[in-house]
Amino acid sequence: MNEQILNPYYDRLPGSYLFSTIAKKIKEYQASHEDADIIRLGIGDVTTPLIPQVISAMHKAVDEMALKDSFRGYGPEQGYDFLREAIVRGEYIPRGVNLDPGDVFVSDGSKCDVANIQELFAEGVKIAIPDPVYPVYLDSNVMAGRTGVIDSIGHFTEVTYLSSTAENNFQPDLPKNPVQLIYLCSPNNPTGTVLSRETLQKFVDYANANGALILFDGAYNCYIQDENLPHSIYEIEGAENCAIEFRSFSKTAGFTGIRCAYTVVPHQLQKIHAMWNRRQCTKFNGVSYVTQRAAEAIYTAAGWQETQNVISGYMKTAALIRNELTACGYTVFGGEHAPYIWWKLPKLANGVQEKSFDFFDRLLSTCEVVGTPGSGFGPCGEGYFRLTAFGDHEQTKVALQRIKERL
Ligand code: MLT
Repeated sequence: MNEQILNPYYDRLPGSYLFSTIAKKIKEYQASHEDADIIRLGIGDVTTPLIPQVISAMHKAVDEMALKDSFRGYGPEQGYDFLREAIVRGEYIPRGVNLDPGDVFVSDGSKCDVANIQELFAEGVKIAIPDPVYPVYLDSNVMAGRTGVIDSIGHFTEVTYLSSTAENNFQPDLPKNPVQLIYLCSPNNPTGTVLSRETLQKFVDYANANGALILFDGAYNCYIQDENLPHSIYEIEGAENCAIEFRSFSKTAGFTGIRCAYTVVPHQLQKIHAMWNRRQCTKFNGVSYVTQRAAEAIYTAAGWQETQNVISGYMKTAALIRNELTACGYTVFGGEHAPYIWWKLPKLANGVQEKSFDFFDRLLSTCEVVGTPGSGFGPCGEGYFRLTAFGDHEQTKVALQRIKERL
């Protein structure tokens, strides 16, 4: 085969996707340590079973599929009205946001949506992304040829990076160069920190003044404990004219294996709304009926309560990690409004900052605990390490005990 037929931009990507690299490292360790007792606090995958309301909604929907009168084939590509309406009622109206259910596009995952959305934009569009952040925003734009090449510090030459670090209290400044697409993630994956109302207003005003678009990833919004912090970009004045919001049932309701999410494209963004609709109708056949009934069930009174209980359980684990690491003398961020703890790695005895991938190996070999190296989320993540609170609570306790005793 002639390699010239291939998309050349794939060669610009880092070797493999972050979480595939981690999975490979774990497999290699297991292969050489037969009795390994590994505790996984790496990928943010949920461990608590689906809530009873979701399970019974799924059973009921399955039974409907067994009868001629209630059987369903293809559903609407945008999602069933019952779910789009439930999302608006359950998520947005209580926060004072009046969305049109027709602006909600149900999908099988936010990862796919945040990666797919970039195909609506011209190749030459300039993007800004936080550093550190969930790697999919960058990787999907690298694949599309929009980023230039990587430089010596690990930044792509055509991308504007928005440093989100302890030094700026995880509140990035506006882009220094003109950009047309701005990715924001709050609560941030991986730092677990939340963008303030002031920061969001600054970005919305910038976008409206400069004809830019904000792509706001709110996959972890349900973990925000302070009701005064913004959960949605649409709580910010003017955002309906310049922002798309991505949300997921994965972390809200334990759907990482079930697959259901939604993307809000306000009708005010007329052309983009029409283009996303066109894209979904052409390339996507909707989420299964059973799954959408399952998602709808979290918005019943009982479903909502059960969901909040699960979230509280994960936040209890987040507090445990924060407190134990702090008691050991480490500096940590996040974990108060998000299920991620951002651990600042101390300097080594020789005064050198340990690289986060080296720490990954050391933590695995000394404690058999897995986390995620900060540099996998961008150069500003170097010297940091992410732990997830989605693990089993008792296992996490064991992991922390090992860290305390062996590191
Ligand atoms: C993470 O660990 O960052 C997430 O689980 C990845 C994802 O949601 O795709």
